[in-house]
Amino acid sequence: MDLGLKDKVAIVTGSARGLGAAAARRLAEEGARVVVTDIQGELAEATAASLRDAGLAAHCVIGDITRPGDVQRLVDETVATFGGVHILVNNAGFPRDKHLVKMSEDDWDRVMEVMLKGAFLASRAVMPHLIAQGWGRVINISSRAHLGNPTQANYSAAKAGLIGMAKALSMEEGRYGITVNCVAPGFMETEMVQALPTYDIIKERAVQMQPIKRAGQPGDVADAVAFLASERAGFISGEVLHVTGGRFG
Ligand SMILES: NC(=O)c1ccc[n+]([C@@H]2O[C@H](COP(=O)([O-])OP(=O)(O)OC[C@H]3O[C@@H](n4cnc5c(N)ncnc54)[C@H](O)[C@@H]3O)[C@@H](O)[C@H]2O)c1
Repeated sequence: MDLGLKDKVAIVTGSARGLGAAAARRLAEEGARVVVTDIQGELAEATAASLRDAGLAAHCVIGDITRPGDVQRLVDETVATFGGVHILVNNAGFPRDKHLVKMSEDDWDRVMEVMLKGAFLASRAVMPHLIAQGWGRVINISSRAHLGNPTQANYSAAKAGLIGMAKALSMEEGRYGITVNCVAPGFMETEMVQALPTYDIIKERAVQMQPIKRAGQPGDVADAVAFLASERAGFISGEVLHVTGGRFG
């Protein structure tokens, strides 16, 4: 199936590593020109360079997705480098898990800031370009945690918020040929979860609870992102695609 992504320009936030890096690579393999952007500068440069080494079109913009000036520079540099922007993947994010009574305001604010405000700022900055060309794709990386997880009141609220934002924008921007969807991954083997002290327990429990008995891989999410970004998904909007091995609870 030709996804029709050739020469489309995609920004993937938080794409120095993990799910974002995998999504950027998959989009580039399908012919898109991708912008790798992350707060981890050296790693982002290396990720973009590895794509170029593989003969793919990639550019790196270092920046903090929570800072409006950085986000505007990201979009301006994307347009200056590749001549436009068509696809935005709002992926940057992290958990700060704690029981509610131990959760600080900073734990709450940082998670909201990077995931919700970051997605808002990036969506707002790309939208004039998508509207002007009458074509666009926005994909928010939510999580199965939008259904709720103990010790993740902040993370679950932000991931549910990304779904609300996608549904609102799908209604607002559909008339311009723009779709807005979410991918909700379950347990995925990335550096972020591998660094958790409870990694082994979480992995075992996740696989046990999934109908499909293997750990999720970054490529599973990347394939879902590439599909939703494609021409082929042009009649799908406001949707949440769970990539969880069949696990919902
Ligand atoms: N790994 C999983 O099991 C899983 C499951 C569901 C959802 N997710 C979501 O997928 C996304 C990627 O997760 P991952 O596992 O690849 O994590 P990761 O930590 O490997 O990647 C996240 C990236 O975001 C970047 N980032 C953080 N703050 C930033 C900021 N202010 N500005 C720009 N970049 C910033 C980080 O530097 C990092 O490179 C996150 O939103 C996460 O919540 C992950």
